[in-house]
Amino acid sequence: FQILLVNGPNLNLLGQREPGHYGHQTLETIVDALRQQAEQAGATLSHVQSNHEGVLIDTIQQSEADFVIINPAAYTHTSVALRDALLGVAKPFIEVHLSNVHARESFRHTSYFSDVAIGVICGLGADGYRYALDAALAFLKRQAS
Ligand code: DQA
Repeated sequence: FQILLVNGPNLNLLGQREPGHYGHQTLETIVDALRQQAEQAGATLSHVQSNHEGVLIDTIQQSEADFVIINPAAYTHTSVALRDALLGVAKPFIEVHLSNVHARESFRHTSYFSDVAIGVICGLGADGYRYALDAALAFLKRQAS
């Protein structure tokens, strides 16, 4: 299986950015661990992080992945275009947030992704990505059998 991991704006700053909300791990550490987890399961993981909505949309449109794990970051609360890209390529996806968005400002309580996601994981820090990858692989195995 091929998994595409998509990380939205400002997630390149993980490790130094508001550690109370987002923890101390860098994005590189998180992605490296996820790559290993995928490889151990016989899957491959590709990754894009961008601060530009169009780059994220282009990557999703061009991807040959079977499944998308996405932390849309601030675009969660704003981007119809990114939602439409995922619907347009009809790929199943899981939405991940490091922080518990429901325990924060009210503008973070709405998501343009949750109602069309396979599932949503939030508030569990970097572990959320690991759980999402486990769930994605289980989903794909179920679908293939
Ligand atoms: C985030 C939550 C968003 O509200 C915020 O804009 C982010 C990160 C998270 O992972 O907790 O940039 O998606």
